[in-house]
Amino acid sequence: MPASTGVATRALRPARTVVRWAVRHGLPAVYLDRGARHGDPVGRLLRDGAVRDEPYPLYEELRARGPLSPGSIGLVTPSHAVASEILRSDRFGVGWDRSQAPRPIRWALAFGDELDATGVAEPPSMLVVDPPDHTRFRRLVSRAFTPRAVAAFEPVVQRTADSLLDALELRSGVVDLVETYAAQLPVLVIADLLAVPAERRADFLRWGAAAAATLDPGLPFRRYVAAERALRAMHAFLREHMARLRRDPGEDLVSRLVSLPEDEALTERELHATVMLLLGAGFETTMNLLGNGVVLLDGHREQWEALRAAPSGWDGAVEEILRHDSPVQITGRTATGTVSVAGRQVSPGTRVTVLLGAANRDPDVFDEPTRFDVGRPNARDHLAFSAGIHYCVGAGLARLEGVIGLRALSERFPALRVSGRPVRRDLQTLRGFEHLPVQLR
Ligand code: HEM
Repeated sequence: MPASTGVATRALRPARTVVRWAVRHGLPAVYLDRGARHGDPVGRLLRDGAVRDEPYPLYEELRARGPLSPGSIGLVTPSHAVASEILRSDRFGVGWDRSQAPRPIRWALAFGDELDATGVAEPPSMLVVDPPDHTRFRRLVSRAFTPRAVAAFEPVVQRTADSLLDALELRSGVVDLVETYAAQLPVLVIADLLAVPAERRADFLRWGAAAAATLDPGLPFRRYVAAERALRAMHAFLREHMARLRRDPGEDLVSRLVSLPEDEALTERELHATVMLLLGAGFETTMNLLGNGVVLLDGHREQWEALRAAPSGWDGAVEEILRHDSPVQITGRTATGTVSVAGRQVSPGTRVTVLLGAANRDPDVFDEPTRFDVGRPNARDHLAFSAGIHYCVGAGLARLEGVIGLRALSERFPALRVSGRPVRRDLQTLRGFEHLPVQLR
């Protein structure tokens, strides 16, 4: 790029930031706030802090309205059957046709477009692209997550958990289990998978938290600016990291992605989107699984004791934690054609908010759904990892980390108790704890 163009680009950066925020967060916030004021459940869910802390009563209100009801931005479903149908349907996609958007929005999207400010839920992240691009990205990534590849990760996860627990042995009094364990384990495991230096983990945690915030629509301007700063730092790191692995490749997933043969090679933007998604999705969700699990088991002490006595039950326990308090609560799809769902005609372009956390408490599928029971026979029928072509590619690894992480913790600190008030993260799409004070002994 000529120097003058670079200077011009930098000079436009603040304006771009404002436009990007306005179109991605400012405008949705106006709609959602208006909806919330008129009692719209989706508006309340996404905009009301009290509902964010405890969304389950609102899900039940929605369930009473039926399996698919109108909200401020399209339709919304709390139903397991409808969510499964939509997530698996080829009449729904994750992308949206920008060419159909009003002209000012198209202009804003084009003007605000910049690789280094792109978040994990923006194209070309595989989370938000449809086939054939989705198929292409997914095929490349899923090679690293075959059952055999995940099983090979078991010693890494165990070793990482053990060394974190060794460090915890030296602590006394109340410790924050998120900071010392629940966040550390997944970030170290994903660092290993992507060959990123473990010393940078504090940066990843900071960047990941900012990236996670951008998943929620309607972010206030200041939080967006902070998030964008973190995204820029993350992209700068990725650029360096990929250049290093191009020069000196290893056996890891990123080395493989940057040295694909020409006919499969990803563009620079696609590489950034893919690695950034893996990095963020790899720990932002799993830390919630661990934190939510500890709090649930602390509240159901007899089940913690039963798992200590019979550790083979941890597989089922992790499924029940995922079901009962799902780390990802919300996703969405857009109808690509006219389609009939739950007796309703859905027209092309209609957005459906899919409440995974509500589907996982659907009484048509789960007996007494609010009861937490690690022995629940069909807990694994949950949609915590979604369904269809976007089904979580890292589900096997997440399950492994959940089982090893919680089992190892219970073995090392059998008397562990939550001590003080756990603090929820200020997020809607992801559900987990920011702080989790515990007494280890
Ligand atoms: C408890 C932990 C986790 C949960 C609850 C979770 C949940 C999810 C969900 C719900 C989706 C799909 C969203 C949708 O359908 O719109 C998803 C997609 C994805 N997850 Fe996970 N995830 C977890 C851990 C992981 C891990 C450990 C990794 C990677 C190492 C990962 C990588 C991905 C990727 C790359 C996608 C996009 C897949 C696609 O679009 O085809 N996740 N995850």
